[in-house]
Amino acid sequence: MIECVRKLAQAAKGDIKTLFEDDPARAEGFSVSCDGMLFDYSKTPIPPEGRRALLDWAEACGVASRRDAMFAGQAINETEGRAVLHTALRNLDGAPVLVEGRDVMPEIMGVLARMERFAADVRRGAFQGQGGAITDVVNIGIGGSHLGPEMATRALSPYHDGPRCHFVSNVDGADIADCLAGLDPETTLVIVASKSFATIETMTNAETARNWMAGAVKAPGAQFVALSTADDKVADFGIAPERVFGFADWVGGRYSMWGPIGLSIMIAIGPERFREMLKGAQAMDSHFRKAPLAENMPVLLALVGLWHHQGCGYPTRAVLPYDQRLGRLPAYFQQLEMESNGKRVNMAGEPLTVPSGPVVWGEPGTNGQHAFYQLIHQGTQVVPCEFMVAARGHEPDQAHHHVLLVANCLAQSEALMRGRSIEDARALMAEQGFTGKELERQAAHRVFPGNRPSTTLVYDKLTPHRLGQIVALYEHRVFVEGVMLGINSFDQWGVELGKVLAKEIEPVLESGDTTGKDGSTAQLVGFIRANRG
Ligand code: F6P
Repeated sequence: MIECVRKLAQAAKGDIKTLFEDDPARAEGFSVSCDGMLFDYSKTPIPPEGRRALLDWAEACGVASRRDAMFAGQAINETEGRAVLHTALRNLDGAPVLVEGRDVMPEIMGVLARMERFAADVRRGAFQGQGGAITDVVNIGIGGSHLGPEMATRALSPYHDGPRCHFVSNVDGADIADCLAGLDPETTLVIVASKSFATIETMTNAETARNWMAGAVKAPGAQFVALSTADDKVADFGIAPERVFGFADWVGGRYSMWGPIGLSIMIAIGPERFREMLKGAQAMDSHFRKAPLAENMPVLLALVGLWHHQGCGYPTRAVLPYDQRLGRLPAYFQQLEMESNGKRVNMAGEPLTVPSGPVVWGEPGTNGQHAFYQLIHQGTQVVPCEFMVAARGHEPDQAHHHVLLVANCLAQSEALMRGRSIEDARALMAEQGFTGKELERQAAHRVFPGNRPSTTLVYDKLTPHRLGQIVALYEHRVFVEGVMLGINSFDQWGVELGKVLAKEIEPVLESGDTTGKDGSTAQLVGFIRANRG
């Protein structure tokens, strides 16, 4: 199947523009709508027969049955022997979800209700710090226990009406030092977000925060909250059970912002808005479960990605939100995609015979335009671009800004596809008075090859509901890609080795004994020890 797609993709590297000429209804035919969002993938080189082949491949891989197995709580994370049920966290109508025969929904709804009571208490000042109402919340976590809350809190800043939220993730002491510098320990709430409650970065930062608080308040633990699956470790740290919000191990770290890990989002925007975000994700879940593959937005988004990555061999993809508040979305998608599908073996443990997931990167437009779009337009590597933009912004008095933003977004996808021919470049240079060899030389620099693929996701406005929908859309996209490549998208063994070696090197930095270390590591240790004062 993949070979067939690859052959079609290589054969179809022709002009995207001609696909529009061949089919005047291409834009409509190569777009899909879902609950107020439109995903347009017509500016890609995928011909109708290519899409058919992609859909056949999806069917042959059993995407639909694998999806149903995920929602049904089967242990599809086979290397960890776990179900994959982040979707249960947003199953707001509470319909039963069985894991090993037990309905997990009562517990999920119970924890959600506790979170809502706590968030409401913090927001209205019923839960107080030792110096009065909470003014600031510091979420300490890393990876999935950081990126989601940070991304969503920033994305939804127009809805903030709670205490200020801050995020600390890096073990670099600069991160927590800069964060705590302006805060009052008497009115700060610290959330320690860690599924394992064992991640060295998070636990080191949590201890630093506790020491900082202990210098100012009598009972520092009283202003700490834990979000974790590891009750015993949380108890050892000294956080009282009433401020512990737990979840099950079948919620993967990078899929966890819908439950307790999202507490900082809930405190920032309020429980009702948090529920709206969950409802948006739930709407996408329902679409993913019910829509036929050919009209299924996450499936089509995955197929477009596979066409470019597997079919055309483009190694990266850029996520380009034309929305300043989605500034952390590319980083969030980076973890989602690269930690999920950056694997070397298939589910059976056999080496992959195809490239694993692509490199994902990006920045909000229009900033990226003035930085790396040069390469996207004229570099020798093709980078498929995924644009996203809202029809309207949150700032009614800045409508003109928004028109410019949207115009730039649409212009980029048009420019990527259309390009500029050598003839047009020559004409441009001639207008400027160039002639002969110099005209040719100058014109060559102004040619845009065009025919560069992009997709565009448009929606009305970045509300909590829309954000939930967008994130769930990408979650399911990553899932579909993983199924079609035969990858387990829900483990992350590749992060282990570096953690183990960091533990080994820590004492080496103290002792200077580099026995057994390679020459480079020994040299670096020597330099650092000699220069750290
Ligand atoms: O190191 C990778 C990772 O395990 C991620 O998958 C996870 O999101 C992150 O670390 C944080 O883990 P925890 O929530 O257990 O602290």
